[in-house]
Amino acid sequence: EKGGYKHFMAKEIAEQPSVLGDALRHYLGEGGEIVLPGGGIDFTHVSRVTMVACGTAYLACMTAKYWIEQLAGLPVDVDIASEFRYREPPIPAGTLAVFVSQSGETADTLAALRYCEGRAQRIVSVVNVAESSIARESDLALPILAGAEIGVASTKAFTCQLAVLALVALDAARQRGALDAVTLAAHIQDLRTMPGRLNAALAAGPRVETIARHLAEASDVLFLGRGAMYPLALEGALKLKEISYIHAEGYASGELKHGPIALVDNTVPVIVMAPHNRLFDKTVSNMQEVMARGGKVLLVTDSRGAAEAGDGVWQTLVMPEAPELFTPILYALPAQLLAYHTAVAKGTDVDQPRNLAKSVTVE
Ligand code: F6R
Repeated sequence: EKGGYKHFMAKEIAEQPSVLGDALRHYLGEGGEIVLPGGGIDFTHVSRVTMVACGTAYLACMTAKYWIEQLAGLPVDVDIASEFRYREPPIPAGTLAVFVSQSGETADTLAALRYCEGRAQRIVSVVNVAESSIARESDLALPILAGAEIGVASTKAFTCQLAVLALVALDAARQRGALDAVTLAAHIQDLRTMPGRLNAALAAGPRVETIARHLAEASDVLFLGRGAMYPLALEGALKLKEISYIHAEGYASGELKHGPIALVDNTVPVIVMAPHNRLFDKTVSNMQEVMARGGKVLLVTDSRGAAEAGDGVWQTLVMPEAPELFTPILYALPAQLLAYHTAVAKGTDVDQPRNLAKSVTVE
């Protein structure tokens, strides 16, 4: 049932181009228009969005915040479910509450959802398990159609969550008149190219394997990213610590000089997630600060970024080009592959990492 792969995680990473395509097709009509089930979400009367989840699902929410704010101009709050539920935050009128959960059974996320009942204008969930508690208790459940995810570390669920949340952001922008029809259609077309780009990114596997043999020697790894690459830096660090047991932290690139740079020396690999976009130069200057302190930089970028990065980079991992808006979907792959191959090099139990459960039904 691992389909010839050594681990479920490897199989699930490789499935992403196909399940991402399934998720997109499910939500796109014949004419390329976005079709959400159950009459969709009325964004014309929503004044803010609050998104709540745990772990990797929380990082999908953090990424969606960039999309919803940028595309639809709606303010978005993102919360960790275990904090949200006990903080008991005020929920102003006009709040759309969105809960993201692969399993749909995470206890803290479910409790946060119940807190929003009777308070939020509408409760929407983004789930993989369609008949789960979180799906049942929400006003509208949006399935991500990733198929069963067996590996404890979430992979294909993350990219499918991102795809569904990107469509929600685009739909919000359309309804609020923030995107004209031509631009909207162009974004949807861009999104449709993502499965092919993920497929191309999988070709980086053997190169990642080589790099991972070095990462496996490290006891600390830093991940940096700016803008929508910041949640991906956190995801890279979460995946790596979860399955390889190497201590890893993700930071917003701009935060480096506010503390974490003190950790940098030649034993700490610093993984910089930086596609060539309008923030690239800023991230390169953070990278140079790392290199000036003897830090070993692994730059994950595209061919333009690789050409402009300059000297001194320890390793470069070149990803396919992608439309700027949707690069987070693509850069999930190197984050996953680096963690996977490092864990394999270390010989840890990739699919069943110690101390972790697939579904966290106790708080
Ligand atoms: C990390 C991971 C976890 C889950 C988290 C939420 O790889 O898998 O962080 O994302 O436990 O689980 P769900 O999405 O089922 O609510």
